[in-house]
Amino acid sequence: MSYNFFIHPEIEKAETLPGSFYQNDQIFNDLKDKVFLKTWQFAGDVNEIKLQNQVKPLALLDHYLNEPMILTRDSSDQLHCVSNVCTHRGNIIVNDGGVSKNLTCKYHGRKFGLDGSFKFMPEFSEAEGFPRPCDHLHKFPLIEWGPLLFVGLDKEFDFQAIINKMKERVGFLPIDEFVLDPVRSKDYLVNAHWALYCDNYLEGFHIPYVHSDLNQALDYGSYTTEIYEHCNLQIGYSDDAVETFDFPEGHPDFGKYVAAYYYWVFPNMMFNFYPWGLSINIVKPLSKNRTKVSFISYVWDESKIEESAGALLDKVEREDEFVVENVHKGLQSGFYSTGRFSPKREKGVHHFHQLLAHFMNK
Ligand code: FES
Ligand SMILES: [Fe+2]
Repeated sequence: MSYNFFIHPEIEKAETLPGSFYQNDQIFNDLKDKVFLKTWQFAGDVNEIKLQNQVKPLALLDHYLNEPMILTRDSSDQLHCVSNVCTHRGNIIVNDGGVSKNLTCKYHGRKFGLDGSFKFMPEFSEAEGFPRPCDHLHKFPLIEWGPLLFVGLDKEFDFQAIINKMKERVGFLPIDEFVLDPVRSKDYLVNAHWALYCDNYLEGFHIPYVHSDLNQALDYGSYTTEIYEHCNLQIGYSDDAVETFDFPEGHPDFGKYVAAYYYWVFPNMMFNFYPWGLSINIVKPLSKNRTKVSFISYVWDESKIEESAGALLDKVEREDEFVVENVHKGLQSGFYSTGRFSPKREKGVHHFHQLLAHFMNK
């Protein structure tokens, strides 16, 4: 289906996406091909695939993308991400993780290397023009950033440029020393469209109205948003005793009191850097009315986690869910069409809507 969404590039003149964007089943389904399959996704922690010849099935955005993949580490320590769909008749090759030198399909015995290359097929000696290039398993590009693994669904999308952008501000943190903390990681279920969850994340405008405790920790007046190509950054400055980053000399924010960097990566990933480490949020569509948000915590400096920080994160999350679910209900009204943006406070939402319109119209 072709679309013709228009978000004026000048925020002063722009209107938001229409309420129907979040209501329509066809749009929800088309977002999968036109947006999600054109981007990169978080594929987990590199330590989950650290043995040589280890093989691990991967379901990115389960219940939505349904793109079967396998992560492997070969005998020369190279990581690969390949399709989990056999090129013979489409069987799923690997159901459980384990250690193996090859990938062997259990249906008719086709064999592939851990890099996805076709190796052997029984009873095919008379087949002509076989194997074809497409009889190898499809390979997906992979990027490692410290312990974080990312898989590219579309090679055209330059994900390394996004990481490089984030490194300008957080590159001084020793990301290789960040450790996954399963106890502080958690999934939240939200009864709202996934893009509404992102809209809300992308502005600090609501902080004084919705998050009274967080508002006390941040200096709302100097809260800023910077826009980059496929990502943006909100900087939370602190004006009191809240833990802030110790910047090295020459850092772009040297001398300032920064409590958090909130990076959002199109369309559904958030990287919240704090002086103690990183909280990743992955926004996972389940249906047009339901979203799972996975909070994945990486701790670097345990001593900087204030006792109350975890509790505050949880409280802020529930306050956000309440407003996001309310907006989802409000948008079902027959009397709402579009809104306008605050040029001062809603640059991030404007950026997101422009990207959504651009990808959907392609
Ligand atoms: S489907 Fe895999 S060998 Fe036939
Ligand atoms: Fe919020």
